Amino acid sequence: MKIAMVGSGYVGLVSGACFADFGHDVVCIDKDASKIDRLKAGVMPIYEPGLAELVAANVKSGRLSFSTDLASAIGGAQAIFIAVGTPSRRGDGHADLSFVYAVADEVAAQLTGPAVVVTKSTVPVGTGDEVERIIRDSGTAVRFAVVSNPEFLREGAAISDFKRPDRIVIGAEDEWARGVMREVYRPLFLNRAPILFTSRRSSELIKYAANAFLATKITFINEIADLCEKVGGDVQDVSRGIGLDNRIGAKFLHAGPGYGGSCFPKDTLALLKTAEDYDSPLRIVESVVKVNDSRKRAMGRKVIEALGGQDAARGKKVALLGLTFKPNTDDMRDAPSIAIAQALADAGVNVAAYDPEGMELAAPLMPGVTMTTGAYAAIEEADAVVLVTEWDAFRALDLARVRELARAPVLVDLRNVYEPSDAAAAGLTYTSIGRA
Ligand code: UDX
Repeated sequence: MKIAMVGSGYVGLVSGACFADFGHDVVCIDKDASKIDRLKAGVMPIYEPGLAELVAANVKSGRLSFSTDLASAIGGAQAIFIAVGTPSRRGDGHADLSFVYAVADEVAAQLTGPAVVVTKSTVPVGTGDEVERIIRDSGTAVRFAVVSNPEFLREGAAISDFKRPDRIVIGAEDEWARGVMREVYRPLFLNRAPILFTSRRSSELIKYAANAFLATKITFINEIADLCEKVGGDVQDVSRGIGLDNRIGAKFLHAGPGYGGSCFPKDTLALLKTAEDYDSPLRIVESVVKVNDSRKRAMGRKVIEALGGQDAARGKKVALLGLTFKPNTDDMRDAPSIAIAQALADAGVNVAAYDPEGMELAAPLMPGVTMTTGAYAAIEEADAVVLVTEWDAFRALDLARVRELARAPVLVDLRNVYEPSDAAAAGLTYTSIGRA
């Protein structure tokens, strides 16, 4: 089957490469000519484990190509995916749908044969209806249907999430479109990946509800962690103790500095906007957004406390290990490190940082922070070492060496990577999350 993927960003590129790997004939399209040139030369616009190899293998086999020319690229495609960005609209947090609608316009003008237009971008309820209206109003005589097919890809694990999904959600209003989508995902049906056919509106809502629920789960355990610190509990045990209940489940119960990334912050805000527009408040999600926002800055205060308080902290040096919002990505969007670095700068603390992939994107977001060449280089002469993102490279630090290189023996572990007893044995004063 021929598939056109409009938008070669994170989602479009991963999805396009995986569809090609399934055996489909895929063309990934983007307006950004330099991005397409680089992709043709094998240079990935993002860091995602395994992506460069997957792209190279499928380009070599002739199943994957890149183009800036939407008109010719969508010719003959039975499925045309829209995978462009839906950033938060400046000012009101609503999802900005201008890119989605612009693609719908262009597709409508260029359709030459029957095609299912599939929205993969995360879009608010009702967007599929609008895309359908745009194409219908263009006066095209070609048969088309508009389908919602949200992605559930985690950065850093996107390829395995695509190939071994928990489920595939397809919101379609007609049987022909469902048939085309069955064909698109056929290789996964053979693996018995659960496929859920719903209405288009339900499908659009599933994506937002899933992300809001996961954000809620994280925020819940983060607040329980705060309580643990006050009452003398251990959030690691509490998390395990509740997660073993099948009704709750163990995943996304890891306490930390607050969620960030390209999805949870943006999608929770957009969901609240939809709720407001339909006069159906989501008070739990409202609280989650507020609690998570204030948590990131609170992490900065936690570090300042570990330095001995505001007065003692001024002029001291802190080493930040890990800047990206999570490991195995270079994505800095809404990363807790940004608020932490800002809080430290406001308190007159000098910051040295190291991140395996994120420093290039991080540097402009945290002026004044010195980027270093490695974890131990950042730690040298530090008055506190703060583990912000749990990259594997920071999971097995030589704690004795940390003690030796740092000026003061203070380790603040915002991801609970270390055992308090190990840190103590190395002579470090250890602060973590939710462990008194
Ligand atoms: C998320 C969803 O998981 C994915 O399905 C969706 O399509 C896009 O958004 P992603 O943003 O890549 O994926 O990262 P994810 O692994 O979900 O982590 C999000 C944030 O939550 C990170 O900041 C992470 O550190 C934090 N997190 C996650 C926790 O603090 N604790 C946890 O237990 C899990």
